[in-house]
Amino acid sequence: MPKKGFRELLSLLKPKRGRGIKIRPKRARAIGIFSCKGGVGKTTTVANIGLCLASYLKDDVLAVDANLGAPNLGLHLGELNPSVTIHDVLAGEVPIEEAITKYHGLQTILGSIAYGEEIHLIDLGDYLKPLKKKHKVILIDSAPGIGAEVVAAMKACDEMLIVTNPEVPTIASTLKTFRMAERFKIPIIGVVVNRVRGEPFELPIKDVKRALGWPIIAVVPEDARVRESTAAGVPIARYKPKSRAAVEFRRLSEYLIEHVAKG
Ligand SMILES: Nc1ncnc2c1ncn2[C@@H]1O[C@H](COP(=O)(O)OP(=O)(O)O)[C@@H](O)[C@H]1O
Ligand SMILES: [Mg+2]
Repeated sequence: MPKKGFRELLSLLKPKRGRGIKIRPKRARAIGIFSCKGGVGKTTTVANIGLCLASYLKDDVLAVDANLGAPNLGLHLGELNPSVTIHDVLAGEVPIEEAITKYHGLQTILGSIAYGEEIHLIDLGDYLKPLKKKHKVILIDSAPGIGAEVVAAMKACDEMLIVTNPEVPTIASTLKTFRMAERFKIPIIGVVVNRVRGEPFELPIKDVKRALGWPIIAVVPEDARVRESTAAGVPIARYKPKSRAAVEFRRLSEYLIEHVAKG
C-alpha cells in the first residue's frame, strides 16, 4: 500500500480528539493468536504487534494474556509480577477494567505466574464485553493445545491469527487449530510463519501454504536477537527495531490495521 494511502487509513482509525466527531463507535475486534504447539512464537507475536499497533492506534489497543496456566506475556514485556492480573479478575476480586496496565502505549491485562489455585472454566468473552467499547483491537494471547482454556479463549475471539513454524510436526499440529477454528466458526485472518531459518530440511513457505490451505500473511525469520529481546523483557520491535524480525512484525501490524479498517 502506498505511504499516502496508509496515512489516510490511519487517520480514519485514529480517535478524532478535539474535533467532536467520531467516525464510528468503538467496538473492538478481538483477535486471538493461536497455535496447537507451544514455543512457536504466539506471545512474541502478541507482544510485538501489540506494541506496533499501539504506536499507531494509541490507547485503542489492548493485549490480554489468556494463557491462564502458564501466562508469560508479562515476561515478554519485562513485567514479572503485575500487581493486578486476569487471575484476580477471574477470582472475582477486581473488575476487569482495574486489571489494565500499560506498556509503552500498549494496554495490557497480564496473568500471574505464581497463581496456584484451580482455574474454573470461564466465559472470557463475557469478561471482555465492557472493554470492547473502549478499544479498537483486543489481542488475545492463547495457551497451546486444544484444551478447555484454549476453547474459552477461542470463543472470545471475533477472528484469529495462527502462528506456526516451518517444520513438519508443527504444521501437523497446526492443522488441529484449523479444525478447532472451523468447529467454533471463528474466521482466520491468516497464518504467521515464524522462526524461518531457510534450512534445507524446513518446509518451504509455498509448501506450508499448500499444507494449511490458508494465506500466509507474515514470514518472520529466526533471529537470536528475538530470544535475547525476550530475555531482556523488551519486544524485538523496540529492542532492535531495524532487525528483519521487527520489520516483519511491523509490516504485519500495518496489514492488520488495513484489515480492521475494512471491517
Ligand atoms: N523469530 C524468532 N527467532 C528466534 N527466537 C524466537 C522467534 N520467535 C520467538 N522466539 C523465541 O521462542 C521462545 C518461545 O516464544 P513464545 O512467543 O513464548 O512462544 P509461544 O507463545 O508460542 O509458546 C521465546 O524465547 C522467543 O524469544
Ligand atoms: Mg505463549
